[in-house]
Amino acid sequence: MENRWLSFVPDEMEPRDAYRLMLSLIVPRPIAWVSTLSPDGAPNLAPYSFYTGVSGNPPVVLFSVSPRSARLGGGEKDTLRNVRATGEFVVNLVAEPLAEAMNQTSGEYPPGVDEFAQAGLTAAPSVDVRPPRVAEAPAALECRLHQLVPVEGSGSVMVLGRVVRYHVRADLHRESGLVDAAALRPVARLGGSEYAALGEVFSLERPKIG
Ligand SMILES: Cc1cc2nc3c(=O)[nH]c(=O)nc-3n(C[C@H](O)[C@H](O)[C@H](O)COP(=O)(O)O)c2cc1C
Repeated sequence: MENRWLSFVPDEMEPRDAYRLMLSLIVPRPIAWVSTLSPDGAPNLAPYSFYTGVSGNPPVVLFSVSPRSARLGGGEKDTLRNVRATGEFVVNLVAEPLAEAMNQTSGEYPPGVDEFAQAGLTAAPSVDVRPPRVAEAPAALECRLHQLVPVEGSGSVMVLGRVVRYHVRADLHRESGLVDAAALRPVARLGGSEYAALGEVFSLERPKIG
């Protein structure tokens, strides 16, 4: 079998091409569907797939916000501006039936446009933070801002949030304390405009050394 490799140097590429290549290599990515409130109480909702958990104790999650596209003036996205101003957000999970609605909320709407209403979603009150969660989402993480970390040399800012409360639809929560991944039906982001559903779920026991 021939193993032929292509190699790419990001500094020698058009930034957009390098970015697109990266997005198609870091796959599948979970999607944080982030709800926030502006200081005057306007709800905002948008998806972020540069997203992961970064600490277990205390539970801290991270998502990264790039500047708005130059075409739209390149300023801060509403989510980052709201988190900076209020220190609170909710990460909602995107299940397969919500993929279309999630995509609608990614439109670069002007500040003040309520993406819940745009996408026909219901805002359910949170318990410990002011931004509402998406009632239709199978799970949600209420978060308080932990740190804002600028990514040097880029306009991106990492938002770290401490999870203060989890909401999980009762039928998805198993006796083991874990959420049933197959029943959750999470949507994953791939490159370009591609998405993926969960494939086969399998288990591996960690090796016991010593
Ligand atoms: C699935 C998906 C994932 C996205 N991930 C990110 C991301 O990680 N970082 C980012 O800055 N924008 C990301 N975007 C684009 C934002 O959702 C988009 O810029 C949105 O308009 C921002 O809304 P806001 O200004 O209300 O925060 C993503 C879009 C989609 C559809």
